[in-house]
Amino acid sequence: MGSLIEVNGLCKTYVVNKISNNVLRNIDLHLQEGEFVTVMGPSGSGKSTLLYTVSGMDRATAGEIVFMGKSYTQMKDKEMAKIRLVSMGFIFQQMYMMKKLCILDNILLPGFHAQLKDRKSVREEAEVLMRRLGIMEIAEHKVGEVSGGQLQRACLCRAMINHPRVLFADEPTGALNSKAAGEVIRELVGINREGTAIMMVTHSARVAAASDKVIYLIDGHIEGEMALGKLQDEADLTQRERQINRWLMEQGW
Ligand SMILES: Nc1ncnc2c1ncn2[C@@H]1O[C@H](COP(=O)(O)OP(=O)(O)OP(=O)(O)O)[C@@H](O)[C@H]1O
Ligand SMILES: [Mg+2]
Repeated sequence: MGSLIEVNGLCKTYVVNKISNNVLRNIDLHLQEGEFVTVMGPSGSGKSTLLYTVSGMDRATAGEIVFMGKSYTQMKDKEMAKIRLVSMGFIFQQMYMMKKLCILDNILLPGFHAQLKDRKSVREEAEVLMRRLGIMEIAEHKVGEVSGGQLQRACLCRAMINHPRVLFADEPTGALNSKAAGEVIRELVGINREGTAIMMVTHSARVAAASDKVIYLIDGHIEGEMALGKLQDEADLTQRERQINRWLMEQGW
């Protein structure tokens, strides 16, 4: 499979009160079409910043990010916004849904905005997704009237409405109990099997066990990588989780 995203020498520096903080230092990584990669590492190691810069939500300080053959440095903000809308999906905890809209309208919004299909087809697509994720009954509920797990699944529907090439997920199970987390992971695996690449951040080895590869970040650079291969059977999760835990201990987790 071909490369979807290529990152070379990525650096990100934040300057706060004239003090610069080199949050990402010389990161190289490749995300293949349909690949499922997890980023792990201690708090403050730069995981979220990596997702923000690779997804073009935030600009890099140095280095190159190429998405489907085109470098971000060659793109104006408007072109990048279009790519994010059409080719990328996001599940970020900080990106709340619109509080005044019901769940269904939140899911429809990026679909209507992208104008890839007529409104009727977008509605049908939203229904398919909501049924699949078991949240049809909360379609008319406001964001404040649903559980954390339901909201997370609604975010997943919204992220998938335009059938993106890649899904960026920052701790998609962070606020969930293990049952709800298991359901979200099962959905992510299903979405990935249908061909959407995933770049996910998690603190949980259990969640990481569903991915093809784990990258360990420390102080803004890649300390190690572990290849797991595609998950064939859910029964393999426990053994893969143990494998990741052993590896994380070696990395100094
Ligand atoms: N907008 C910003 N301005 C200045 N500094 C920032 C900004 N965003 C993040 N940082 C700093 O960058 C570093 C990395 O933050 P980041 O959020 O990427 O960490 P993380 O690995 O996602 O941590 P966590 O596991 O706690 O979510 C931290 O030292 C943080 O304070
Ligand atoms: Mg983070």
